[in-house]
Amino acid sequence: MRIVTSPEEMLRAVKEVKAAGRSVGLVPTMGYFHAGHLSLMRAARAENDFVVVSLFVNPTQFGPREDFKDYPRDLARDSEMAAEAGVDCVFHPRVEDMYPQPYLTYVEVEGVSEGLCGALRPGHFRGVATVVAKLFHIIPAHRTYFGLKDAQQVMVIRRMVEDLNFDIEIVACPTVREADGLAMSSRNIYLGEEERKAATVLYRSLRLAEEMAVAGEREAGKLVAAIRETIASEPLVEPEYVEVVDWGLLKPVERLEGQVLIALAARVGKARLIDNVILEIEGG
Ligand code: PAJ
Repeated sequence: MRIVTSPEEMLRAVKEVKAAGRSVGLVPTMGYFHAGHLSLMRAARAENDFVVVSLFVNPTQFGPREDFKDYPRDLARDSEMAAEAGVDCVFHPRVEDMYPQPYLTYVEVEGVSEGLCGALRPGHFRGVATVVAKLFHIIPAHRTYFGLKDAQQVMVIRRMVEDLNFDIEIVACPTVREADGLAMSSRNIYLGEEERKAATVLYRSLRLAEEMAVAGEREAGKLVAAIRETIASEPLVEPEYVEVVDWGLLKPVERLEGQVLIALAARVGKARLIDNVILEIEGG
């Protein structure tokens, strides 16, 4: 497995692969791999001749008081895991090569980036859209793989690809969870033992809401209240938002209809965790 740090060299390598008639799959990441990342790499491996994983802790998507400096990094371990997953190439650029000074150009996706996490992390999705647009240019892949754990991110990237005519297929992959339901996240390492146990309430509360919807509940407010009540049973978990939105433009809904996203964010100790479920509501 090759590790490339220069954007120019990376583009050259991908152009050569494509000139040989081979398909290219890209998995954008910030590293510190877990089973969620590996599931994206395996999906890419199954569908493409050449798989590139980008590993870049992107400073522009972190707020000034967020964890950019502390974000876990371990290139040696990540390279080993990527190689084992059958990845052909890891793209690991330096910050100064991705954002040479002066750096003045950003991608802003309106609407879908404004609610949910966007409302609490101003500038976050602008940083995500910008770095992903850059990655799509440096690694002009046929397909790219994103996890539904970050459902809003998937929608932001889908809109950007549609609106800016990127010639790339987005493959959205299901959330990979620990045995007790906690969504895998590089940030789970911030959790102490008690916090780690308490964090399982997040997915439990989403499952409860899902069961209510399956049983016929159509009032979004009722689901939100049930989720909040369940989370309130864990004093270590402080919810930031709990929302039901349409799985499209991510606008809040009052009644469940079609595809809806139930999304939440919560603070557990030092960690900010997110989770969600997407429901397909049949009938009215
Ligand atoms: P990162 O948090 O490293 O996640 C990389 C990819 O792995 C994302 O598509 C994310 O949704 C997916 N992922 C994370 N946890 C997952 C889980 N438990 N199950 C399934 N997929 C999971 O998301 C980013 O990096 C960055 O914002 C990035 C897109 C790379 C731009 O910097």
